[in-house]
Amino acid sequence: MASTSTTSQTGRILILIKPDAVERRLTGEILRRIEAKGYALTALKILTPTEEILAEHYAEHVDKPFYPGVVDYMTSGNVVAAVAEGRRVVEGVRSLMGPTDPTTAAPGTIRGDLGRDWGTPAILNLVHGSDSDESAAREIAIWFPELAD
Ligand code: RTP
Ligand code: MG
Repeated sequence: MASTSTTSQTGRILILIKPDAVERRLTGEILRRIEAKGYALTALKILTPTEEILAEHYAEHVDKPFYPGVVDYMTSGNVVAAVAEGRRVVEGVRSLMGPTDPTTAAPGTIRGDLGRDWGTPAILNLVHGSDSDESAAREIAIWFPELAD
């Protein structure tokens, strides 16, 4: 089925199914949506993140007032880290996710359909997806160092 084949040349994204989604048993639903759109999962692992890996991953946010809440949130349980591949996958997965705030994320998106405001210090929004090809390369190296070229 050559017309739907994917290779790393067509784009990669780092996805994190965050602890709220894993706790709520939404891992399968979120991965299903990504696969159903046509992207290929090419790496998958489950782990509870350390503060060290989060400081690398969220380097742009470490000095922001909400960052301690993000650390509490992201270290509260297991996350599922995944790499998905396909042409324009960064745009496609970001579109599937919806914007950061799940209260106002459009219905039809992962955050809009499955998320809400729970009154927590950090916004619980179920999923992370790299926001550019450059971010994806940087983040895949953090979460999947074994895939480094
Ligand atoms: P992500 O990086 O997780 O894919 O989410 P994003 O691009 O939509 O949001 P970003 O601005 O990069 O923020 C990273 C994560 O930090 C938490 N956050 N809390 N309380 C707040 O104001 C606040 N702002 C951001 C969220 O978990 C967000 O996904
Ligand atoms: Mg972000």
